[in-house]
Amino acid sequence: MITQEHTIDPVLSPEQIQERVAELASQLDKELRGGEPVLLGVLNGAFMFLSDLVRQMKLPVQVDFCRLASYGSSTESCGKVTMSKDCELDLTGRVVLVVEDIVDTGLTVNWLMQHLRMRKPKMLKLCSFIDKPERRETEVDVDYIGFTVPRGFLVGYGLDYNQQYRNLPGVGELKFCS
Ligand code: IMP
Ligand code: MG
Repeated sequence: MITQEHTIDPVLSPEQIQERVAELASQLDKELRGGEPVLLGVLNGAFMFLSDLVRQMKLPVQVDFCRLASYGSSTESCGKVTMSKDCELDLTGRVVLVVEDIVDTGLTVNWLMQHLRMRKPKMLKLCSFIDKPERRETEVDVDYIGFTVPRGFLVGYGLDYNQQYRNLPGVGELKFCS
């Protein structure tokens, strides 16, 4: 529970999100054609984005999940990543689309992409619901971006603060009152 007084300022409405997800889904249908792609969601944050995305896609896809823990403060990762649940499908020779909630420093997703390259996929792409370039510490190639949000700590639509607010249908910026 968050005990400190705070507000959540709207950033993305549920309608804006659904419209963008539909656009991304039709782009992915075109660009990932020719092999049944594996959509690999990164738990927990990407669960809502992934489930909306696959329901809008027409291509046959397979879905799997991995789970990473990156240590640091509650609002910032330090790049020390461990994997608490690996992907279970064999990715050898497959078209793999990693579906992330947000790329912030980039440290977590860079670790994951390196790990997945060792599984020898035919193609490895990255789709992130949000790209937040302000605090980027390492170069990341995000192939598909839902929204670019310049700054702020975001919650909702899968994104949490201390496990709260993942269930909000839109995205907002969490602000603590001083
Ligand atoms: P990284 O800094 O790019 O390594 O981000 C690591 C993870 O921190 C992301 O996958 C998110 O789960 C989480 N994260 C980063 N920024 C935010 C945010 O603004 N709100 C909620 N979670 C975030
Ligand atoms: Mg995440």
